Amino acid sequence: MPSADREKIRKYLEFRRDAGDEGFWIGRRPGKARSKENAAGGSAGGLDMVRKEVLNCRKCALGSQRLNACFGDGNEKTGIMFIGEGPGFEEDHRGHVFVGRAGKLLDKIISTTLGLERKDVFITNIVKCHPMKDPSNPEKRMNDRPPSEDEIAQCIPYLRRQIELICPRVIVALGSPSAKTLLGTTEGITRLRGRVFDLEFNGVKVKLVPTYHPAYLLRNPTKKSEVLEDTKIIRSLL
Ligand code: SF4
Ligand code: URA
Repeated sequence: MPSADREKIRKYLEFRRDAGDEGFWIGRRPGKARSKENAAGGSAGGLDMVRKEVLNCRKCALGSQRLNACFGDGNEKTGIMFIGEGPGFEEDHRGHVFVGRAGKLLDKIISTTLGLERKDVFITNIVKCHPMKDPSNPEKRMNDRPPSEDEIAQCIPYLRRQIELICPRVIVALGSPSAKTLLGTTEGITRLRGRVFDLEFNGVKVKLVPTYHPAYLLRNPTKKSEVLEDTKIIRSLL
């Protein structure tokens, strides 16, 4: 085929891809960039704005207790987001999500079961600042607690905007607080995991898969087989 024709076809395919046609994804993995804003490379502007707001936020009490807010890390054009509960000691000190022991396990799950790396997915939390039992002492270990309902309510608009801008195909809710918040249910993670839920965020349709939190897996290694089952579901959706 003459190279001018090849170039025309390539341009056409890129045009279709950037118009959001899911069948046309040359140069990008399937499952990526579903929104027009995202496909046009415009999401970074929006997400950068959200990041700035989070880093300056004092909407709830955690804002004046944290060492560092943790916006989230990874690929902003990904098809898959992992959503945990809230930053812990390591995250608070470093300003990045899932960088402690649970994070190492999460990285391992993502690579061994999905064949992806941290840089291929986007990871964040329900709340962006470290909820502490004793907020006067951020240097204390074993000082984590789950976020309160009020803290979640104050923080959740940031997560909604992240989801709307990233437009993932799949969200993995890690642990009970994350799954319950995203699904608006009081059911526990044991009953929610192993299932797929259809959610919509401002027109963005997402498949939500709840599974156990990696910190819970560190305490209960026998539950790894159930997470393995859940990752098979995730793989089938990507
Ligand atoms: Fe703001 Fe969320 Fe941090 Fe509270 S937890 S101060 S709402 S960013
Ligand atoms: N646990 C979470 O839920 N989030 C983190 O970022 C780290 C540990």
